Amino acid sequence: MRALVTGGHGFIGAHLCERLVAEGHEVRVLARPTSDLSSLAGLPVQVFLGDLRQPLALTEALAGVQWVFHLAGALKGFREADLMAVNREGTQRLVEACVAQAPDLRRFLLVSSLAAAGPSPGGFEPRSEAAEAQPLTWYGRSKRAAEQVVQAAPLPSVLLRPPVVFGPRDRDVLSLFRLARRGWVPVPAGAPRYYSVVSAPDLAEGLLRAAEASSLPSGTILPLVAPEVVSAAELGQRMARALGRRGRVVPVPEALLRMAGWGADAVARWRGTPAIFSAQKVMEMLAPAWVASPEPARQRLSWMAPTPLDEALALTVRWYRDHGWL
Ligand SMILES: NC(=O)c1ccc[n+]([C@@H]2O[C@H](COP(=O)([O-])OP(=O)(O)OC[C@H]3O[C@@H](n4cnc5c(N)ncnc54)[C@H](OP(=O)(O)O)[C@@H]3O)[C@@H](O)[C@H]2O)c1
Repeated sequence: MRALVTGGHGFIGAHLCERLVAEGHEVRVLARPTSDLSSLAGLPVQVFLGDLRQPLALTEALAGVQWVFHLAGALKGFREADLMAVNREGTQRLVEACVAQAPDLRRFLLVSSLAAAGPSPGGFEPRSEAAEAQPLTWYGRSKRAAEQVVQAAPLPSVLLRPPVVFGPRDRDVLSLFRLARRGWVPVPAGAPRYYSVVSAPDLAEGLLRAAEASSLPSGTILPLVAPEVVSAAELGQRMARALGRRGRVVPVPEALLRMAGWGADAVARWRGTPAIFSAQKVMEMLAPAWVASPEPARQRLSWMAPTPLDEALALTVRWYRDHGWL
């Protein structure tokens, strides 16, 4: 198949491109003129340039394309409008280009997020698939808006919602590995918060299975999560163990976490670059849980994340160490 991967040079995107190439597909990537393409070094992919915040000229990039994997997106911003400009309006531009210029398109795959659905009730209980979306944050609302844009379009689509994603080349969860290396596992004080997680190579496999799946009604939403659910404390301790350390859990009072989020926002504004740790991120951290069921993906795609959590954490640590990030 010929696939266009928007954000194919990003953290998850590069894992997907590797997987697509390994399975013999022809890969095109949509990147910005300013994008760092080093994650794609040595991969036989063709790069096309475009910024989702501006009108897109994609006639060449979309010619003969059968799958579009839409991963490009904003994960952080100073205002909700910054996230909407990329995630909602950018998705609208891409969808319009696909409708007009991709007559061979078999499936448009939007990589959304559990953030678009909103938190789960608490503990191990997964969020009900039937429950109405209740995103908490600017990011969550912008990803939900992107889902609505895709569902409204006359395109054969599937919407995938990953949880927290970790793995080689990730810079966001890396900060937790760095704390764990020092033996620190900070978690919100009070009731344990539970999470679904997935490693990027496993997620890439799930995305590919979603592209290949037959008889998937257009507009289907599927969480792509590993089967194991962990508390924040357990995840940190298992990160520490993967690093050969004993992780000491440090409960951080809610008020202190909120202050840290506001402080991080002030520093980010002073620097002029939004940061992943922010007051918005603290809101997500303080939610009861972010748990989804792996069952819908198992039933609809015959996909279950194949790598056990400890093995995926160990592979990630090895990559960080080999590349001097840890
Ligand atoms: N990481 C997670 O835990 C996670 C969890 C759930 C869902 N997701 C979703 O997965 C997708 C990929 O995320 P990621 O973790 O791989 O993040 P990432 O490494 O930051 O990738 C995001 C990509 O989007 C591109 N992009 C951003 N703004 C753009 C614009 N205006 N025009 C064109 N491209 C633009 C970036 O290009 P530049 O390099 O030029 O900035 C980058 O390649 C996102 O849609 C995200 O919402 C991520």
